[in-house]
Amino acid sequence: MSITAEAGRTGVPEEYDHPLLSVRGLTKSFGAVHALSDVDLDIPNGQITALVGDNGAGKSTLIKAVAGIWLPTAGQIYWDGNPVSIRTPKEADNLGIATVYQDLALCDNLDIVQNMFLGHEDLSRRLLDETRMELVAKQTLIDLSVTTISSVRQPVGSLSGGQRQSVAVAKAVMRDARLVIMDEPTAALGVSQTAQVLDLIKTLGARGIAVIMISHNLNDVFTVADRMAVLYLGRLVSSGPIAEYDTQRAVEIITTGSASGAQPPASSNGTSTDPKG
Ligand SMILES: Nc1ncnc2c1ncn2[C@@H]1O[C@H](COP(=O)(O)OP(=O)(O)OP(=O)(O)O)[C@@H](O)[C@H]1O
Ligand SMILES: [Mg+2]
Repeated sequence: MSITAEAGRTGVPEEYDHPLLSVRGLTKSFGAVHALSDVDLDIPNGQITALVGDNGAGKSTLIKAVAGIWLPTAGQIYWDGNPVSIRTPKEADNLGIATVYQDLALCDNLDIVQNMFLGHEDLSRRLLDETRMELVAKQTLIDLSVTTISSVRQPVGSLSGGQRQSVAVAKAVMRDARLVIMDEPTAALGVSQTAQVLDLIKTLGARGIAVIMISHNLNDVFTVADRMAVLYLGRLVSSGPIAEYDTQRAVEIITTGSASGAQPPASSNGTSTDPKG
């Protein structure tokens, strides 16, 4: 069953041939707090979607619903056009959804190879030996153009924040993730580390992997994102190609929940209308 075939029944639009992930009517309440209200959003393959909004807007709640941490109160998630319920992080992992949190679930005392295979013993058994695991880990980092890590045998505790992000993303890619979700990937990073992580995010998009990046940093957003989605008090108030926004418009929507003026011309923030251009 495809999303297009389902369009009439589910309300999923035909805007893309094939959104990888769609949510419809997604709602999550914590008691009286409506963290998410009736959110509709499409995440296409191979594009980087920046999820923005003020503190408490519902960004983390939205990605936690997709990552199998929160069960939505109402609404439906579609994966590859099929309705799914993602009840645990394991179920998200099985679909190919990887979430990279700011404080990364990496073990400082283990080296890069051990971290990349940690928690996936089946995979490591199949690949058998340390040498093979080391080769796979190295090759994954090379494929992602991560060049600043000198040895995959160094403990993760000795890495910089940007390098740690790179290892966490490489782990996701090695597990064949189709959607990588990053919550504030550059918040704790310096200038060159931020550039390194943004390059990595672009590489993921170029490889056809969908990325959702939560960020409060609009410079980062305009540097890498193909699309923007804005949450305001739990509601999705705006979404579209990045060329439809400039910083001023984005700030206005983030802070007020709506935009007063006309959309900016496609070139006004230096971003091409071609999302891959
Ligand atoms: N476990 C929880 N229990 C109760 N309320 C919660 C819980 N998690 C989030 N909330 C509430 O839901 C709303 C959305 O929170 P969420 O963490 O999704 O915001 P956010 O957009 O990620 O904010 P930030 O930018 O500060 O990280 C907030 O009002 C928050 O207080
Ligand atoms: Mg958050």
